[in-house]
Amino acid sequence: MKFRTIKGTKDILPSDATAWQHVERTVRQVMHAFNYREIRTPLFEQTGLFARSIGELTDIVSKEMYTFPDRSGESVTLRPEGTAAVLRAYIQNNLGEQSPLVKVYYIGPMFRQERPQAGRLRQFHQFGAEALGSPSPSLDVEMMQLPLEVYRALGIDACALNINSVGCEKCRPAYKQLLQTELERIRQQLSEDSRARIANNPLRVLDSKDPADREATAHVPLIKDHLCDECRDHFAAVRRLLTAAGIPFTIDGRLVRGLDYYTKTAFEITSTALGSQDALMGGGRYDLLVEELGGKPTPGVGFAAGIERLLMVLQALKRPAGEEPVPTVFIAAMDGTAREWAFAACHALRRSGIPAEIDYLDRSLKAQLREANRQQVAFVLVVGENELTTGEARLKDMRSGTDHPVRLDALEQTIRSLHG
Ligand code: HAM
Repeated sequence: MKFRTIKGTKDILPSDATAWQHVERTVRQVMHAFNYREIRTPLFEQTGLFARSIGELTDIVSKEMYTFPDRSGESVTLRPEGTAAVLRAYIQNNLGEQSPLVKVYYIGPMFRQERPQAGRLRQFHQFGAEALGSPSPSLDVEMMQLPLEVYRALGIDACALNINSVGCEKCRPAYKQLLQTELERIRQQLSEDSRARIANNPLRVLDSKDPADREATAHVPLIKDHLCDECRDHFAAVRRLLTAAGIPFTIDGRLVRGLDYYTKTAFEITSTALGSQDALMGGGRYDLLVEELGGKPTPGVGFAAGIERLLMVLQALKRPAGEEPVPTVFIAAMDGTAREWAFAACHALRRSGIPAEIDYLDRSLKAQLREANRQQVAFVLVVGENELTTGEARLKDMRSGTDHPVRLDALEQTIRSLHG
């Protein structure tokens, strides 16, 4: 019996890990530059947390969650996204009392039972951020700057920012009714999925990918033209700030996002380097969600970005994906006594912070040198009886091919002086 990964999940092999680490390092650098601090929440939570926040009628909650009763019978769910869990942690730990504005970021796996395809997995990874405590439109823009800065630092510029406003509890109900009336009028031209959404989730009809739906709804009213004064002003401020920051964007009146918690600003970044799953990241404001989850009324805004999709773009654009870590020095030993010396010397080097390696497979000297070469080490030290007796050996610089004399009791210093 051979075991395999579960459909829609992937191993991140050592040869992939370098690129992952490169991305994660870049994310952390950017997050720290913007003064965000890391938060790590559990991978599973009470099912109700997600149902309540993301929305019972969304695809995520109604079709895609990994939900199961645990052994005590409580319904738990593998997190399909990070926002709900971060807000739960914010409320549960009274983070708002320690600081009026809480800015946090996360990197980690999320789980959705979607139909797997290129760029769509069942266990995928996101980096994201949430800012809780301020209604300022500058934070909405910061949530677009964060991923854009990550992409810029990684050498990706081929991406497009789309923004919209989805209104608030004051303006959305009237718009929803207006839209429902319009959609009822053209019901016959709509796809089955869209027809089913008219009653409960009419806004989602607008971002249907079905060409027939697109055509039928080409002239329906859009929420951005039916905002209350507060939402309109907020949206105008977001656009001004984006323009002032020199960030190109497109207003997409059909952008509504697949999660129910958004108010006011919604945004997405897509990349032409991706196929049909072209969303690199998405986010928006959710000013009612903390209260909805039992906390004090607290405005919030955030984003999350797919890491697998980002890696696909990096690969498509042939961007450097970080350097493989290699040992600085390989100690090749000629006999048993030298092997024991090499084992101890290798440990001393590692402890001093110099990545070092030896042979564990009892290979011939020639085979050890071949291995050192394969691993692309910077230096090789060969030790045998002679070297151990005299206390002197030669350190071969594998890049230049030159030999340096080295005293075995000054190995660390010599490597440091040669390697910088
Ligand atoms: P989302 O749009 O559901 O938003 O996901 C954000 C990003 O995660 C997507 O743009 C995509 O890059 C990636 N993604 C989503 N599903 C998959 C999948 N099955 N396979 C691979 N990548 C995927 C959220 O998750 C919200 N929590 C964003 C947010 C944070 N809004 C406010 N704060």
